[in-house]
Amino acid sequence: MLSCYLFLIISLMISFRDVRVSASGSNCTENPVFTPSALVVKYGDPANVTCVVCQKDCRGDVFGLEKAVGEVTKNGTTMFWTVDRLTEWGISVMCYYDHVASGQCSSTLDLTLYQPPESVSISFVNHTGMMFEEQQYTLQCSVQNVAPVQNLTVTFYRGNTALGHLQSNSEEKKPVNETFTLNTNSSREDDGAQYWCEAKLELGPAGPQRPPVVTSEKLPAIVHYGPELIGPPNPDVITVTEGDTLHLNCSFVGNPSPSYTWTVPVNSSLSDNGGILTIKSIGFEHEGQYICTVSNTVGTVTKEFNIDVQGEILVCFSQFQFQCLVIFCLTNLNILFFYFLYQTPFPTLQLPP
Ligand SMILES: *[C@@H]1O[C@H](CO)[C@@H](O)[C@H](O)[C@H]1NC(C)=O
Ligand SMILES: *[C@@H]1O[C@H](CO)[C@@H](O)[C@H](O)[C@H]1NC(C)=O
Ligand SMILES: *[C@@H]1O[C@H](CO)[C@@H](O)[C@H](O)[C@H]1NC(C)=O
Ligand SMILES: *[C@@H]1O[C@H](CO)[C@@H](O)[C@H](O)[C@H]1NC(C)=O
Ligand SMILES: *[C@@H]1O[C@H](CO)[C@@H](O)[C@H](O)[C@H]1NC(C)=O
Ligand SMILES: *[C@@H]1O[C@H](CO)[C@@H](O)[C@H](O)[C@H]1NC(C)=O
Ligand SMILES: *[C@@H]1O[C@H](CO)[C@@H](O)[C@H](O)[C@H]1NC(C)=O
Ligand SMILES: *[C@@H]1O[C@H](CO)[C@@H](O)[C@H](O)[C@H]1NC(C)=O
Ligand SMILES: *[C@@H]1O[C@H](CO)[C@@H](O)[C@H](O)[C@H]1NC(C)=O
Repeated sequence: MLSCYLFLIISLMISFRDVRVSASGSNCTENPVFTPSALVVKYGDPANVTCVVCQKDCRGDVFGLEKAVGEVTKNGTTMFWTVDRLTEWGISVMCYYDHVASGQCSSTLDLTLYQPPESVSISFVNHTGMMFEEQQYTLQCSVQNVAPVQNLTVTFYRGNTALGHLQSNSEEKKPVNETFTLNTNSSREDDGAQYWCEAKLELGPAGPQRPPVVTSEKLPAIVHYGPELIGPPNPDVITVTEGDTLHLNCSFVGNPSPSYTWTVPVNSSLSDNGGILTIKSIGFEHEGQYICTVSNTVGTVTKEFNIDVQGEILVCFSQFQFQCLVIFCLTNLNILFFYFLYQTPFPTLQLPP
């Protein structure tokens, strides 16, 4: 009895080996056909497939379906494999028959067992806290418990911009933890942006309609940078009229927010509010150079304003345009004549405003 069992086991082993060997090179004109041709099953889900061993020329009755799990029911040369919960990694399902002329013919089911990522997280490698511009940082996306990892695509994002797509080289079928890294150069435009990554299992047409996607949390980028001018640069000289109010706009951006100090020729009738210096009533004493010093923890820059104050001639321009035009033209012809006019103005210039 024992020897009988032994014989059975040995002959089974031999036939299994034969099955595997003949599965590679074969003269078969008609291989067994699986329907559907490919199965993509989520870990723990049920699965089934039908195998038609041969449709014509079906000689002999040595055929079957080799499987590690599940049940097989036969109906003629059609076999139906079913499993309630597929929880075996790396199994193969093979359908075979012995053909009189061409030996054994077989087909292996294209079976993918998958597990969506359990969790996805993002971080910087060897870096915490604030960033500085124009430096390289390494982002790391960690994906936990995903299978098969070769069908995983990881995409890094900054805001809505995809920075890069990465895939694994591993051919492991069982769930793995894998980290993906991407280098990125920081710029001041990145300040306030958010980095994140997305892990997507791309399982082809036999897979679920919506590929499983898991995204990481958002990682805010805080990029520190020195003061930078906003708005157009100043003219070389700002010409103003005596008595007017002037705002000097020294607006910079920076992270952290910069602070401002003003160096001025005279302090009277000045008030400053951050980057804006206000001179309420301009007098000739306000003429000169104004320097705004802008600094934060990253750097310090200065901006200069040169104020030129003009008196009556411009007042005149605004009130008695025609006469001033005459004076102006004459001035260009003869500067002495201008001085004469200036000292003893036309009667019209003395009209009350
Ligand atoms: C076989 O699988 C298909 C697709 O998963 C399913 O729709 C069908 O109900 C299953 N049939 C049986 C008998 O389990
Ligand atoms: C076996 O297949 C035949 C023809 O395809 C069908 O008529 C019959 O009902 C099937 N039997 C079982 C038990 O499924
Ligand atoms: C394929 O056919 C050739 C010649 O007909 C034969 O020698 C060979 O053994 C066959 N191969 C298999 C795997 O049956
Ligand atoms: C991170 O720092 C550690 C120790 O300082 C070093 O061994 C490791 O190679 C660094 N990793 C990367 C990706 O730079
Ligand atoms: C993946 O990481 C989790 C948590 O760190 C751990 O529990 C699990 O064993 C890891 N899996 C593998 C395949 O290394
Ligand atoms: C970052 O900048 C360095 C040098 O400035 C360059 O070599 C590198 O390719 C840049 N990396 C990326 C991801 O743009
Ligand atoms: C999984 O990825 C491999 C390698 O990129 C590819 O050959 C295979 O078709 C993919 N599987 C599915 C179900 O898309
Ligand atoms: C200062 O200039 C900036 C840039 O041109 C502008 O956005 C801002 O509104 C100005 N501030 C004032 C008070 O005029
Ligand atoms: C203006 O006032 C500041 C302090 O309020 C003082 O340090 C500075 O010397 C004064 N400048 C002039 C020109 O008076």
